[in-house]
Amino acid sequence: MNHSGAESNQRAAVEVTKDKNGIDQVVLQNTRGASVRVSLHGGQILSWRTDHDEELLFTSSKAIFKPPQAVRGGIPICFPQFGSRGLLEQHGFARNKIWVFDENPPPLHPNDSNGKAYTDLLLKPSEEDLKAWPHSFEFRLRVSLAEDGYLTMISRIRNINCKPFSFSFAYRTYLSISDISEVRIEGLETLDYLDNLCEKQRFTEQGDALTFESEVDRVYLSSSDVIAVFDHEKKRTFTIQKQGLPDAGVWNPWEKKSKSMADFGDEEYKKMLCIDVAAVEKPITLKPGEEWTGRLELTTVPST
Ligand code: BG6
Repeated sequence: MNHSGAESNQRAAVEVTKDKNGIDQVVLQNTRGASVRVSLHGGQILSWRTDHDEELLFTSSKAIFKPPQAVRGGIPICFPQFGSRGLLEQHGFARNKIWVFDENPPPLHPNDSNGKAYTDLLLKPSEEDLKAWPHSFEFRLRVSLAEDGYLTMISRIRNINCKPFSFSFAYRTYLSISDISEVRIEGLETLDYLDNLCEKQRFTEQGDALTFESEVDRVYLSSSDVIAVFDHEKKRTFTIQKQGLPDAGVWNPWEKKSKSMADFGDEEYKKMLCIDVAAVEKPITLKPGEEWTGRLELTTVPST
């Protein structure tokens, strides 16, 4: 198979299975037993487990596993639109589509393959997509799991049309947390943000680190390339590193909105925090033949 690999390491494994809808899923496993599950529905990561078999991503107990609707949890990809900023369906169509294996991906740096279990997926627009968004593109996604448990997602989007196009983008990470009142985010302090709860108005973050006591739905602008989510109760910190993606969304629906979502439990807002690693404020423009790369690296470290 050349759409996936476990190079330089015979015991790392890549396995393809089918879900109950007959859609392929890829399970990446490293030699220590950590794993990542990716669905061809949306190119969405559905699970990321440690070598102690602990799930690091949130998935709702009410999640609906039926395309085209994206699963409520994991890491859906928002493309070519983020949120309702545009004419397309909320968060764009990529998360709703069935992707294919990329049989012949253009090479990445050897460090992106060596010693990693990985898979390469591809999305091209359907006739229906082109009616809604008339731009031909190739969207290549590499998902990899390293020996140290690092989860990496690399998106390469190429304009294969004869005219430029612009898009916004996000990896929406649903992080599993002990309790929303126990977490804080570092890396967003003093930044400007657009508040979706106040008609996308611009504000400036004042506090030292971001903590939660009500609904939050914001896009922080031009954040540093490292964001940390501290979970005091779990004594665990998620470290989010990004490249090519200047903005960072933060979303927690809190009590009232949770009750209005059919695929989300009433109390589940306490157990999840969405961080969007994103390009939102300034859309990315690609000329014909140009390619953009956006990269996310996730890891966890013990904290006190
Ligand atoms: C946020 C939007 O980014 O995503 C919210 O601002 C929305 O309005 C939330 O409810 C979840 O979106 P979806 O499409 O996954 O239900």
